[in-house]
Amino acid sequence: MNRCALEAFLGGLVRLFTTVAGLRCFLNLSRGQQPQGDGLPEPTMTGLLTVGFVPTMGALHAGHLSLIQRARRENKLVVVSIFVNPLQFAPTEDLDRYPRMLERDRALCESAGVDVLFAPTVAEMGVIPPTPTRVQPPKSMISGLCGAFRPGHFEGVATIVTKLLNLVQPDRAYFGQKDAQQVAMIQQVVRDLNVPVEIVPCPIVRESTGLAMSSRNQYLSAEEKIQAATIYQSLSKAEQLFRSGERLSDTLVQAVKFELAKVPVLQPEYIELVDTKTLEPLETVTDEGLLALAVRLGNTRLIDNCVLRDRKPIIAIDGPAGAGKSTVARRVATELELFYLDTGAMYRALTWFVLQSGVDLNDEPSVAELASQCEIDFQTNTGAPLV
Ligand code: PAF
Repeated sequence: MNRCALEAFLGGLVRLFTTVAGLRCFLNLSRGQQPQGDGLPEPTMTGLLTVGFVPTMGALHAGHLSLIQRARRENKLVVVSIFVNPLQFAPTEDLDRYPRMLERDRALCESAGVDVLFAPTVAEMGVIPPTPTRVQPPKSMISGLCGAFRPGHFEGVATIVTKLLNLVQPDRAYFGQKDAQQVAMIQQVVRDLNVPVEIVPCPIVRESTGLAMSSRNQYLSAEEKIQAATIYQSLSKAEQLFRSGERLSDTLVQAVKFELAKVPVLQPEYIELVDTKTLEPLETVTDEGLLALAVRLGNTRLIDNCVLRDRKPIIAIDGPAGAGKSTVARRVATELELFYLDTGAMYRALTWFVLQSGVDLNDEPSVAELASQCEIDFQTNTGAPLV
């Protein structure tokens, strides 16, 4: 491939790859990892290439598109995968009837500005059972919530996501918060296996009724969609209770149960309040908690959740140098009675620390090592630690 052809790739239509070899070859060329010579791209062109990755099982909806848009904003190259992963379906589940609509999805990716669509076959991904190697997430994170009802599901997700991350090697990977257990589990797997990627959780996108967007909503009749809207209403009731001061899990869970019971076709599988990171059950919510549920409606299984948070909001203000960021931030903090945190001071503190250490400033690995060991404490004007 010559440089012009590569530039056409980078700035043009979505490229569909169905093989690992094709995907890898394209990504290597894009990153300028090929030896130079005969028309191959120069590293300078792609030196700052950042890759954003959105793994999906297709049947794309507005939820997926919000992930793609975010990836588009934050990266040079956007890769979407569509793969209905057999490893994450139990034999009794909907693997065969899971919606598959590649042409439609490809058109959606194209209009969303996706650069690469990776849609391999099951054989190409090498996951025809029995798969020789599996990724085993921590039991404590996958034995509750959906894991209790879908044995093997999260091993299947962890295995395929790890494979996809190895193939794409993205800088950032985007996941919807509707699958909150999946996101927390993947964050842990990535940490534990030192996978060099930032996992970016993205907010749930809802229909106008409040129903969380899901590819499985396609299974619902018009009447069922109206009934399913009660799921969000039930979570909202618990949120209201939480805001009015209720902190007991039992009471908050009961509030959800009570609302759901108003629509008897909605059969709860579980309603649980857990720690947002470890997913361990909580008796009371001190700082924050994940209120998650799964509900059966006819043959369809729907999940949803909300995060109950006691913390004050965090407002980040950014802009070019000299634009008045600090002035605005200080005034907003005063007005809303929030702590004012000057993040610029963190960079200055780190610079001071590195200068003091005497390391060669061009020795990036040593600077990185120092940065990861540097501890910075912020104190409020009253001297109290900022927590
Ligand atoms: O969330 C999904 O669609 C799937 O679980 C994922 C992350 C694409 C893995 O198959």
